[in-house]
Amino acid sequence: KNLHVTTTINGDAAEFVCEPDETLLDALRNRLGLTGAKEGCGTGDCGACSVTLNGRLVCSCLVLAAEAEGAEVATIEGMADGDQLHPLQRVFIEKAALQCGVCTPGILVAAKALLEKNPDPSESEIRYWLAGNLCRCTGYDKIIRAVQDAAA
Ligand code: FES
Ligand code: FES
Repeated sequence: KNLHVTTTINGDAAEFVCEPDETLLDALRNRLGLTGAKEGCGTGDCGACSVTLNGRLVCSCLVLAAEAEGAEVATIEGMADGDQLHPLQRVFIEKAALQCGVCTPGILVAAKALLEKNPDPSESEIRYWLAGNLCRCTGYDKIIRAVQDAAA
């Protein structure tokens, strides 16, 4: 039997219907048209699907859509303020910290969560925090430097 979920996404009330075993990632992408979070692996290994749920960074491929009931979900789509990019988004572009971009929404969401907890992280703290976000393209150094620049 399908479930009816009432939630808050990027500060706005949202509702959707989903299967009981549907992931939050699938509901975001297929029911709500929020395709920023990507499915890299579907098994919690790549971080491309990262969002926050009640402020906690999660892999949305490992969370049931039903868990969004009454919760606050934040996705990459809510990161810019209108047409004003978030500083992390700006610096990723300026520093060419992306290539194909599949990992980028998840890395940005994760980096934002880090800077909210720790506004001045060391390089090793950034590397540790982003260890669950895989990138096949950039070799990581530009990503780490971009997060450092955004924090500076
Ligand atoms: Fe969720 Fe890879 S798609 S961690
Ligand atoms: Fe391609 Fe990271 S830019 S996977």
